[in-house]
Amino acid sequence: MAFTLESTMTLNNGVEMPRFGLGVFKTEVGTETENAVQWALEAGYRAVDTAALYGNEAEVGKIVRSGIVPREDVFVTSKVWVNNLSYEGTKAAFDESMSKLGLDYVDLYLIHWPVNDWQGAWRALEEISKTDRVRAIGVSNFLPHHLQELLEMAEVPPAVNQVEFHPYLQQPDLQAFCRENNIALTAWAPIMKGRVLDVPELVSIGEKYGKTAVQVTLRWMLQIDVITIPKSAKQERIVDNANIFDFELTDAEVETINGLDRNDRIGPHPDRFGQ
Ligand SMILES: NC(=O)c1ccc[n+]([C@@H]2O[C@H](COP(=O)([O-])OP(=O)(O)OC[C@H]3O[C@@H](n4cnc5c(N)ncnc54)[C@H](OP(=O)(O)O)[C@@H]3O)[C@@H](O)[C@H]2O)c1
Repeated sequence: MAFTLESTMTLNNGVEMPRFGLGVFKTEVGTETENAVQWALEAGYRAVDTAALYGNEAEVGKIVRSGIVPREDVFVTSKVWVNNLSYEGTKAAFDESMSKLGLDYVDLYLIHWPVNDWQGAWRALEEISKTDRVRAIGVSNFLPHHLQELLEMAEVPPAVNQVEFHPYLQQPDLQAFCRENNIALTAWAPIMKGRVLDVPELVSIGEKYGKTAVQVTLRWMLQIDVITIPKSAKQERIVDNANIFDFELTDAEVETINGLDRNDRIGPHPDRFGQ
């Protein structure tokens, strides 16, 4: 399939979400975030993934508002942090994020982890989703059992589940659950924080196309319908990471990468978060 940087996935509420974007976790508050978002938009990125936790919503909003590209062409995601997971806490946290972003609306708002009163938080997200301040709502780090509980109580189903996902952590059960329930999967740590460069199979596939293991990994995600948001604060890498639209992996290469799964997590297990 011929993907481009503008390619989107249609979420379960009809909203179009770019399949590729910039993550800004640990991108420093101030000029580092401003530069990264600006370089990304200039390089053709049309999505930015931030969160209250990252402390850089103001910088993301400032560059999105700056008009490098029209507001409606940029997809902005933010997330409510765990200390605000309750009905009232999440409503207040959303207002605070919106004020920092300085935007009329955010494209996607997520519950960051399935802890505390995430059920109350979901009620708040549902309420917010009926206003014009958010285009889609979803969750992050939800396992199938959390999603099952959420679907049983939800009036509005989650459009997205953003989870740790990369060649060494493919979570086949979660992938299947999301596919069956029309929940789009977004990968965090998609390039294993740079460590995919040490995976010989990815390096060797890349040699055939003149691509790096990072580019092979991100291309693989496009081809298996997983949305991806690699982070870099360096202009050259921001540009290189998006250089994945001029080659196509064969079915056999996709299968080889599918076969690299080791159930190997970098971040916390969602059932043991904060323990
Ligand atoms: N929902 C959640 O719980 C959650 C958790 C973690 C992350 N996220 C989101 O997902 C995004 C991506 O995940 P992540 O930032 O944890 O990990 P990642 O994107 O897999 O890796 C980012 C790291 O890789 C380096 N890097 C980037 N491009 C590179 C390249 N071409 N070659 C070598 N190294 C490269 C970056 O360093 P430089 O900046 O120095 O280039 C950074 O240290 C985050 O930024 C955030 O938006 C969400």
